[in-house]
Amino acid sequence: MSFINGKWRQQLHLEPPVGWLNDPNGLSFFGGYYHVYFQYAPDNADGSGKKCWGHYRSRDMISWEFTGIVLFPDTPDDKDGVYSGSAVVYDDTLHIFYTGNVKEEGEHDYITSGRGANVIHVTTKDGVTMSQKKTVLRNSDYPDFCSCHVRDPKIWREGGKWHMVLGARTLLNKGCVLFYTSDDLDKWEYMGTDSVPDFGYMWECPDMFTVGGHRYLSVSPQGLEHFDTKYQNAFQSGYFLSDSGLTDFTEWDMGFDFYAPQTFEAPDGRRIIIGWFGIGDSAYTNPTTALGYQHCLTIPREVTADEKGRLMQNPARELLELRKESRHLSNGETAEITLPSELTADVHGIFKISFDGKLELVWNGKIFELRFTDKKYGSGITVRKAVLDKFSDIRIISDTSSLEIYLDGGRTVLGTRFYPDDERVTVSAEGISAEIFSLREMEVKYLGE
Ligand code: FRU
Repeated sequence: MSFINGKWRQQLHLEPPVGWLNDPNGLSFFGGYYHVYFQYAPDNADGSGKKCWGHYRSRDMISWEFTGIVLFPDTPDDKDGVYSGSAVVYDDTLHIFYTGNVKEEGEHDYITSGRGANVIHVTTKDGVTMSQKKTVLRNSDYPDFCSCHVRDPKIWREGGKWHMVLGARTLLNKGCVLFYTSDDLDKWEYMGTDSVPDFGYMWECPDMFTVGGHRYLSVSPQGLEHFDTKYQNAFQSGYFLSDSGLTDFTEWDMGFDFYAPQTFEAPDGRRIIIGWFGIGDSAYTNPTTALGYQHCLTIPREVTADEKGRLMQNPARELLELRKESRHLSNGETAEITLPSELTADVHGIFKISFDGKLELVWNGKIFELRFTDKKYGSGITVRKAVLDKFSDIRIISDTSSLEIYLDGGRTVLGTRFYPDDERVTVSAEGISAEIFSLREMEVKYLGE
């Protein structure tokens, strides 16, 4: 099995062995395993290859097996890519629904013509060997107001029926979602659409779920206006409270490099989210591309709701198992640490934490800033800001080439890639003191191609 061992190989995050990774797909717990499928284009690292589904599985979310590619674009209905989708467990079987992408020959804009977006159903008894593919919805089944861009089915069970939400772009270039229901996972009936005014031209990767008695719709909208302290990335991803209408859109992650997340329910009832720790059309390039692989997924994060319905994300508790020895970092001190590591601290006032003096996390009492003072260290990444006029604590999971920063119990999260010269980095603290844990590497076995 080919596997490229690069300098910035992550130790806590799932990466492709070679080539390109984007969205997490088919997140589920089935047959004693957590299943993490993902958009995978192994032939090159720049994302231009045809998308397949790669597959990781784990019994505990900290030791993983890569079983290889489980879905290839090998039928007329998905010939140009096995695009994103989801999975549900029914009748001792994992049912997978994804978008089969088809690009027709000829003169097309591929928005209003020339593109097929088929919802395809496959089943598996072991998570690896897939049944024949069956197309259950095609463009002619979508409402007339839709362009050809309709994709990323997410399925769930509720009220004795199966439900599907799809992301779409209308002919008037408005992002929206479409809802379908089914009794048998085979025949799907259109139930309606939802959207909000002036909120982008396309909504990708929708997800609908309940946490703490509230209902949420997560989407990844494209085409939002950018502001200094919100919607700072090329594209966004966040959740609407959807108890009554779609309200309070909140970004999942205020940092760089987060897109197209998906949630699923763990067997103990926890709602877990995993995102693509990357994004399309970004202004910077990931230096691992030159090494032959690119991007990773975020760590699994537990999602809970506070009393106002704001969602909080925190590292899945399984990751606590990775903690080794810890040391204290006092206010004003600089320490050398070895990645991966975890830092936790209570916040009592304005502070600055810096990594190698080149990446600074700064809170001025109003705004939290994640900023690079060295271009190479961030590979062209600059600054991201989040408005926070008070917060209680900070927790940072730092892998070989990324930080995930959880603020105020996880109400605000920022992630970024970074590219230190060495696994040993210095951390300095001003206005804050912290505990720093060394972390054990996750185990990943490569079983397939
Ligand atoms: C989001 C996305 C999805 C699509 C997939 C293709 O990143 O564009 O809408 O299904 O990636 O790889």
